[in-house]
Amino acid sequence: MTRKGSGSGDGPRARATAHELARYEQLFAARTRGMKSSAMREMMALTERPDVISLAGGLPDTSTFAPELFAKLMAQVAAESAARALQYGPTEGITATTHVIAEVMAAEGTHVDPTEVIVTTGGQQVIDLVCKTLIDPGDVIVAEAPTYPGAVPTFSAYQADVVQIEMDSDGMLIDALERELDRLHAEGRRPKFIYTVPNFQNPGGVTMALPRRRRLVEVARERELLILEDNPYGLLRYEGEALPTLYSLDAESVGRRGASDLVIYLGTFSKILAPGLRLGWAVAPRPVLEKMNLGKQGADLCSSSVTQLFVNAYFKERGARGGPAWLEYVEDLRVHYARRRDAMVEALAEHFGDRASWTHPQGGLFVWATLDGRIDTTDLLALAKSEGVAFVPGRAAYVDGRRGASSMRLNFAGNPEDEIREGVRRIGRAIRAQTSLLGRLTGTPGAPSTSHGRPAAAAGPPVADAPEAGDQPMADVVELPRRERPSETRRRGDG
Ligand SMILES: Cc1ncc(COP(=O)(O)O)c(C=O)c1O
Repeated sequence: MTRKGSGSGDGPRARATAHELARYEQLFAARTRGMKSSAMREMMALTERPDVISLAGGLPDTSTFAPELFAKLMAQVAAESAARALQYGPTEGITATTHVIAEVMAAEGTHVDPTEVIVTTGGQQVIDLVCKTLIDPGDVIVAEAPTYPGAVPTFSAYQADVVQIEMDSDGMLIDALERELDRLHAEGRRPKFIYTVPNFQNPGGVTMALPRRRRLVEVARERELLILEDNPYGLLRYEGEALPTLYSLDAESVGRRGASDLVIYLGTFSKILAPGLRLGWAVAPRPVLEKMNLGKQGADLCSSSVTQLFVNAYFKERGARGGPAWLEYVEDLRVHYARRRDAMVEALAEHFGDRASWTHPQGGLFVWATLDGRIDTTDLLALAKSEGVAFVPGRAAYVDGRRGASSMRLNFAGNPEDEIREGVRRIGRAIRAQTSLLGRLTGTPGAPSTSHGRPAAAAGPPVADAPEAGDQPMADVVELPRRERPSETRRRGDG
């Protein structure tokens, strides 16, 4: 049996005690003070427990990838290129892999020159390398509110000053962005980049509407700002029309097919193939790419040759329906995940009560649910764990951890439908327990009703700013984190 904390098993590791930490305190770099664990890392420990249904991680369903195909391709790599697979490769990636990446991006209508691609160790490394390249302590990064929880520790580690811009059902509010940019400008501060996940945002589940995309690119161009477009989910669309990437919109706007000089694009094989490969990529203006390459040399020299060769072999495969195997797999994933999304949204309507609201994502892996404003989901999580279920509390998606208190991120891709329903039922039970506890403590009435929730489409409009002119309010999205307004606080305080 594995001893807890021995480091030899797969279980959670024991944490250093305060006493142990004190001994090293003087040695730690200043940047470590701002470092915090990603909510996901905390959650990973929970996924080890078989009694816990984890709706927390960002996990895709890797059980859908045929083990025989995995074995065949690995055997092929071993037979045909063992020495190369076992060797270091170029920092920017194996050339054939950069061509595969150009093929994936072309499937989303974005055309890139493979020589402007760098292969990375997951998309996560791109976030790190962009920060390493651009961020000095105190530099401003503009991000969405909420933002990808996995980017939060990276931004914090580089001691960035992160300004988060509210979203509604159509993504980042560009008017609010402009106001914030004006404010920063008045202070003599220019953000180093604008970070956005335009498709099926992690964690918000919303997609940036086309007029907003166009306007964002214009704003960036007018003000000479870089954008980091993080797009792991663009190909995982379950309904609605595909939208052009910011990268392609910008490349078009400057009339140069294939190259944007202000968008840094982040892609990954994690969600369209498998995160265990740890392969992602960046496309960036050449000067930025060169610095990122230098940063990567310092980080890991190169990404895995084994998995790059695996990907190269996979992309030559034909699928059972006669098309490229990788695209057929993505098509199958779309059908599979759409069912899971539907299961989650139905379960939310059944178990979350009428004070909760949630997004209805058109793709991706996540739903963002917002509860009765009195509930803090960080506290709720402790109760939920005892019910045998986990989610990511909304605060993890805010760099200062002060907003998002009554929201949570729920992953619908990583579990079968019956477990999704059961997980949501358990959270619903925890919500009811928490609400009645709050009611007893404060003497306020009102456990949320549980017999029927609000179907997503019938819920109220987004509570962030009103949609801008020209943007269609989307009926399918419910609510993003509430921005407290005095009147609303009073109303929801229930006396
Ligand atoms: C928005 C976003 N960016 C980046 C990543 C990093 O993914 P990976 O490093 O597996 O490519 C994720 C993973 O969940 C994500 O959701």
